Amino acid sequence: MNKQLTFLMCSPRGEKSASHSIGSYLTSLFGEKGITVTSFSVYQTLKKQDKIEEMITSIDNSDIILISSPLYIDQAPYMTIRTMNIITDSFKQGKISKKERHLFAISNAGYLEYYHNSIALKIYEQFAKENDIIWAGGLPIGAAGTYVQYPIPEFLKMLEPLPKEDPRYEIYAKPTKLLDSVIKTSVDYLSRGNTVPNEELQKLEFISMPLEAYIEGGNNGWLEAAKQYDTTDKLRNKPYER
Ligand SMILES: Cc1cc2nc3c(=O)[nH]c(=O)nc-3n(C[C@H](O)[C@H](O)[C@H](O)COP(=O)(O)O)c2cc1C
Repeated sequence: MNKQLTFLMCSPRGEKSASHSIGSYLTSLFGEKGITVTSFSVYQTLKKQDKIEEMITSIDNSDIILISSPLYIDQAPYMTIRTMNIITDSFKQGKISKKERHLFAISNAGYLEYYHNSIALKIYEQFAKENDIIWAGGLPIGAAGTYVQYPIPEFLKMLEPLPKEDPRYEIYAKPTKLLDSVIKTSVDYLSRGNTVPNEELQKLEFISMPLEAYIEGGNNGWLEAAKQYDTTDKLRNKPYER
């Protein structure tokens, strides 16, 4: 019988999120390996008891659980924790049978530095341990917002023509190629029933752009937003000071 995977997409931003963009890229690769994927957007799922039960049945049938979640305040967001609590309760109540099952997690941070994700990934690992799920590893993604706008395969196609001397090659093309290769290797390991070696995951421990470039990007975004409201000259106002 085909292997089964349950994908838990944990961002409230739905399809306009890094969690969806990166997570669903992995699920498409799992699909190519003949793994049957069932996806749940937890903000929708947790609203209805019958959807929660569907999620629990899917996990019961699954060999792999894939969590893809935003990072909020250096942490796993409340709804991601609530989802894990519901799953833990279901294990305790015998609604999910014990069998060999792997958990793989993607933690998506807005800031540049991958290491903001360390605590969240430890929480996912602890959730696995508490429920006798095999912790297969996790991807610590920095500047995850990049992949909201451009899903990885499309982004790589866009970046292909860039010459190596173009600064965008270092900032975008190099890290995205590396991320793509770590994702593909991880899917290979997981679909063969293995955990992902730490050496592979550690390849994501790099900072993809100079801090100044990140700040400049943020400031430009802020100015663009202000232009839309014709408030460029009011950005330094302090209406809270009298
Ligand atoms: C309430 C809130 C808290 C956040 N806290 C952090 C944080 O501590 N560190 C960080 O790097 N990004 C933080 N972010 C940014 C998100 O992690 C980032 O936008 C990420 O891409 C969101 O994932 P999503 O696109 O899947 O929703 C926060 C965003 C929100 C809305």
